[in-house]
Amino acid sequence: MPTPTDAAGSEPGAAASSAPTPVIEFVDVEKSFGNNVVLKDLNFQVARGERVTLIGPSGSGKTTILRLVMTLEELTGGYIYIDGQPLTHHKRDGKRVPVSKKEQKRLRTRIGMVFQQFNLFPNMTVLENIIEAPIHVLGRSKKDAIAKAHSLLEQVGLPEKADSHPSSLSGGQQQRVAIARALAMDPEILLLDEVTSALDPEVVDDVLNILREVADTTNVTMLIVTHEMGFARDVSHKVMMFDGGHVVEEGPPDKIFTNPEQERTRKFLSAVLGH
Ligand SMILES: Nc1ncnc2c1ncn2[C@@H]1O[C@H](COP(=O)(O)OP(=O)(O)OP(=O)(O)O)[C@@H](O)[C@H]1O
Ligand SMILES: [Mg+2]
Repeated sequence: MPTPTDAAGSEPGAAASSAPTPVIEFVDVEKSFGNNVVLKDLNFQVARGERVTLIGPSGSGKTTILRLVMTLEELTGGYIYIDGQPLTHHKRDGKRVPVSKKEQKRLRTRIGMVFQQFNLFPNMTVLENIIEAPIHVLGRSKKDAIAKAHSLLEQVGLPEKADSHPSSLSGGQQQRVAIARALAMDPEILLLDEVTSALDPEVVDDVLNILREVADTTNVTMLIVTHEMGFARDVSHKVMMFDGGHVVEEGPPDKIFTNPEQERTRKFLSAVLGH
């Protein structure tokens, strides 16, 4: 008799039999912008609770990968699975069949993203920014959403800013609100795209320390793009080095940062680490 695992097994990438289902799985992913093929035949998996950092030169496709998971970009080939569920397309008789918008929306609620440029809603207060999606997407009560927002503002060190507008906050403060907003959805997956790159150097550590705490105290799966190699080393279980939309090499941070196998990785790291 077919089991749920068997059913998932009919999808091309679903992990075999007893292996735990990856939280994120890319199978033969391709992404083009017009004629520009940015990702080709990309295959990787992220396990539940795993924190993976993507490194690589500008234009190598790191942001595109996160935006595909967030469904902010359209996948042009292959499959992405979230917890074994197809995010954009099923494979049916060898054909790619789009999943329903409803199903996609449901999976999307499990994923949060924090951007380099904060992307807060400028016309809403900090509190309104944080409660918007929990109320309108998850259907939480306003009372519960507000209570959670206050506790998250406490966690990110901004309890007094609930009624401020984003424009009155510093970059570091806006980014802390953006993190609180993402966490308000209790995401299973948190995508972080260069979240400190637009910040003044003196506030970078404040933001990274908040993320370290999230990493230490939750089981949220993280896909991280950062140039902060110390942070990447501390929080990641795995580092993947990209170039030209391909994985050049991957491994535990200690290995990749101290003893990379590929010349391309060595060159990239010596450029970003400045030696
Ligand atoms: N909306 C878009 N339209 C057309 N091309 C795009 C678009 N977004 C990204 N690209 C192209 O896709 C490639 C990968 O871009 P991506 O932003 O993923 O790189 P990245 O690794 O995040 O680089 P960086 O380190 O500079 O942020 C680049 O060649 C880029 O020009
Ligand atoms: Mg990028």
